[in-house]
Amino acid sequence: MIIHNARLRGRDGLYRITLNGAEIAAIDIQTASATPAADDLDAAGNLVVPPFVEPHIHLDATLTAGEPAWNMSGTLFEGIERWAERKALVTHEDTKTRAKKTIDMLVDHGIQHVRTHVDVTDPTLAALKAMLEVREETRHLIDLQIVAFPQEGIESYANGRALMEQAIELGADVVGGIPHFENTRDQGVSSIKFLMELAERSGCLVDVHCDETDDPQSRFLEVLAEEARVRGMGARVTASHTTAMGSYDNAYCSKLFRLLKMSGISFVSCPTESIHLQGRFDTYPKRRGLTRVAEIDRAGMNVCFGQDSIVDPWYPLGNGNILRILEAGLHICHMLGYDDLKRSLDLITDNSARALNLGERYGLEIGRPANLLILSAPDDYEMVRSQGHALVSVRHGKVLMRRTPASIERS
Ligand code: FE2
Repeated sequence: MIIHNARLRGRDGLYRITLNGAEIAAIDIQTASATPAADDLDAAGNLVVPPFVEPHIHLDATLTAGEPAWNMSGTLFEGIERWAERKALVTHEDTKTRAKKTIDMLVDHGIQHVRTHVDVTDPTLAALKAMLEVREETRHLIDLQIVAFPQEGIESYANGRALMEQAIELGADVVGGIPHFENTRDQGVSSIKFLMELAERSGCLVDVHCDETDDPQSRFLEVLAEEARVRGMGARVTASHTTAMGSYDNAYCSKLFRLLKMSGISFVSCPTESIHLQGRFDTYPKRRGLTRVAEIDRAGMNVCFGQDSIVDPWYPLGNGNILRILEAGLHICHMLGYDDLKRSLDLITDNSARALNLGERYGLEIGRPANLLILSAPDDYEMVRSQGHALVSVRHGKVLMRRTPASIERS
């Protein structure tokens, strides 16, 4: 298959991308616009990019909002209560069906790489076992990384450490954590030391729900970063949320950034979820409840955007479209300056791929997997401004999804 008339990010001119089976065989500049053969694809001067990445979602909880009751206050705490009611009804098949439905929604929007957090604070590890099957059964659609996520804590939950170890033995790819939720500061710190040691021993990646609160005293990020620095594991470690950083004072944050840079860890922000759940103890002025996305980016560190939830007790909206998250995130994070806009797709492509350690399994380069998207606009700015879409998604050299844009007739 050949994709003609493709525009590539950061390069001038039009390109022809030749796929040989499941690999990219050639990328050649075109001297003129080409008319594609019947079996080929025409990018028509629009961007061709590697697939979008969903770096942070909870597939075991998606599509449960309102079952049995809606979260009426919209708070994180009522979300936990509503989830406890729904969790009692969860079955193996129910988890698999909802996860697969959600994966279809992600695929419809050009996502081919997903990292999902799965609650392992369950003596039967039922959701994890279901998700391990989903990972195998959806390989033709996405590459799925599973995080062993201790929703109710590692140290504060009965047999929490053993459940984490068991989850990794069963085949989870990533070690998770939730230090700010542990009962005490000491438990939070020891949970991080435990999970980093487990990751080092097992060779797994790390992705910790870290400081997901407006409490400026929640300072587990420094512990995670220092553990990553000392162990030389920064490239394999992600800190998700870190919303407390939005409430840290600048003096502390300036010292913290020195460590963060040395550690080399990545960051995931979930802007729609965080602006919805955080700031809930404020009247006015009301905090935004996000980490310092623009500042992390300006400091040369790696940061990307994720959806977190789709129609679950914590967040009632969502349709799988990561471009919606990008647009909201750029607004919320004060990133509508042209310099940010013109490279905004980094936040849902290359940066996310780096956080997920996709390495040479990702990117438009000769010899890499023939996974790519044809978008509906010629550059990053126009993609965001026009609320564009992924029009074609190609995976393993074959068309996985094709979208027909809506047409408007004026009378
Ligand atoms: Fe999360």
